[in-house]
Amino acid sequence: MTDAVIGVWAEHAYDVVIGRGLLGHLPGMLDGAQRVAIIHPGALAATAAMMRDDLVDDFEVTLIEVPEAEDAKTAEVAAFCWSVLGTAGFTRSDAVVGLGGGATTDLAGFVAATWLRGIRVVQIPTTLLGMVDAAVGGKTGINTDAGKNLVGSFWSPSGVLCDLTALETLPREDLLAGMAEVVKVGFVRDTSILDDVRRDPDAATDPQGELLADLVRRAVQVKAEVVSADFRETSATSGDGSIGREVLNYGHTFGHAVERRERYRWRHGAAVSVGIMYVAELAALGGRLSDADVDLHREVLTALGLPVTYPGGHWDELAAAMAVDKKSRGSMLRFVVLNGIGNPGVWAGPDQAFLTGAYDAISV
Ligand code: GLY
Repeated sequence: MTDAVIGVWAEHAYDVVIGRGLLGHLPGMLDGAQRVAIIHPGALAATAAMMRDDLVDDFEVTLIEVPEAEDAKTAEVAAFCWSVLGTAGFTRSDAVVGLGGGATTDLAGFVAATWLRGIRVVQIPTTLLGMVDAAVGGKTGINTDAGKNLVGSFWSPSGVLCDLTALETLPREDLLAGMAEVVKVGFVRDTSILDDVRRDPDAATDPQGELLADLVRRAVQVKAEVVSADFRETSATSGDGSIGREVLNYGHTFGHAVERRERYRWRHGAAVSVGIMYVAELAALGGRLSDADVDLHREVLTALGLPVTYPGGHWDELAAAMAVDKKSRGSMLRFVVLNGIGNPGVWAGPDQAFLTGAYDAISV
C-alpha cells in the first residue's frame, strides 16, 4: 500500500498518514518549532532515541519517559511533563510528540493542550487501537480518583503518523483488542469492514498483510468524517435526535462498566467487544435489530477471538458504573444502538426489563 493520507477538519485541518516507515513526514509536521518533546513509555525508549537522532540537526529534542499504559494518565505524570517543558523553556511555537499506545497519546495530547494553553502535538500511535481511535480526533485526557478520562480537553493534533510496521511487534492480544474498534466502525457505518473480516479473519489480523492496512485506512476514514462533522460531540447534548461523534461510543457504555468492574485489568477493546454484544442484544429486545443481525455481531467478534459473554450476577455493580456515563450525558442512560446494521441511533432511557434482559442474554 502506498501511504494513505486522510484529512480531518476540526478546529484546524490536519492529516492522518497511514503507511510504513513514515518518520520522514515528522519534520514537516514540526515545522517552525525550535524545541520538540517526545513523550514515550520505557518500552519505546530505543525508538524515541532513534527519532531524536533523526531530528537533532533541526530541533532541540527532549525525551520524556513516562510509565506504561494507563499508569501514564495521572495528574502526577502530567505535572512531571509540564516541569520538563518548563525547564527546557518550551514556548508557544514548540511542539510535543506522543509516541505510544492510546494512553500515551491521550497524555501527550493533554500535556500539549494545557502547556501555555495549548501547543502543537503530533501523534505517533504504535497500537492498532491508537491508530484507529485514540490518536485521531483530538480527545485528550488523564484519569483521576473520580474516574477514567474525566479530566481532559478537545485538542486536535497537528498530524498523526500511523506506521503499520509497529503492528508487527504488537502482542497478538493487543492487536485483536484493537480490532474491536475496527469492527465497531463496520457495525455503525462502513459495513464492508464486516464482510472482509468474516471472509478472512486471519488476513484481517495479519500485521504484514494488505487487508489489515486497508481496514485501518477505512476505519480512520470514517473516524475522520465523524470528527470533522462533530468535533466536540455536541450532537450528544443537542437534544435534536441527531447522532454525530457519539456514534463512536457504540458498545462503550456497557464496555466502560465492564472495564471499571474489572479495575481496568481488561483490555479496552475486549470490554468494548462485550459492550457491543450487550447493546446488540438490547436493540433486539427493543425490536430494532433482528436475531440474524445479533448473530452477525457474535460471529464477527468471535471470529476475532474477542469475548462476547460476561459473568452473570453483577448487574447492580455494572448499572452503577453505567450511571457515571449517564451523569455526563443528561438524566437518562443513553445507548448508541443500531436500527439495522450500519444504521445507528440513540436509545435514551430503555426500560429496566430491557437493560437486565440484555445482560441475561450475554451472561454465562
Ligand atoms: N473514542 C471515541 C471518540 O473519539 O469520540
